[in-house]
Amino acid sequence: MKPVTITITAQLLDYNELTAQQRQLVDAAKRSSEKAYAPYSRFNVGAAVLLDNGEMVVGNNQENAASPSSLCAERVTMYSANALWPNVAPSAIAIAAFNDAGFLAQPISPCGACRQVLAETEQRYGKPIEVLLYGTEGILVFHCVDDLLPFSFSRLQLDYGK
Ligand code: THU
Repeated sequence: MKPVTITITAQLLDYNELTAQQRQLVDAAKRSSEKAYAPYSRFNVGAAVLLDNGEMVVGNNQENAASPSSLCAERVTMYSANALWPNVAPSAIAIAAFNDAGFLAQPISPCGACRQVLAETEQRYGKPIEVLLYGTEGILVFHCVDDLLPFSFSRLQLDYGK
């Protein structure tokens, strides 16, 4: 037997411990959550992606009466960034969410499907995308998406053996 151990370190920071650029990204994600279309869940999520060219792309969750047609904020935002700037690597993404009680106290946790999409973008450009998960009690900062989805399925596996 050969145990495999993965250790992941994230930082839980107060808002005022963030850099000015991180604060800007978190603020943009929070603002964007206010434009979400979430009449069914009333769970409003916003995201903001910072690109290497200095551009910022924002998005939010878009729900539909035919619920599988809905899309999370992270995918709306990252797909939009990839569509607008197909040759520019993202360097960070911030995510924030509020419900009827206000912004979540604990950092929002992206779903598995969104992690998969963020992971492929990270692999595509070959550089880490910092992930900032906003909560009113602290912002959880991951160095890269791979830390949120270790052992991810990737195109490398599709090509395996070819
Ligand atoms: N949602 C997101 O947009 N991002 C997340 O990280 C978690 C969940 C959305 C999907 C759905 O519109 C609503 O929040 C409730 O699940």
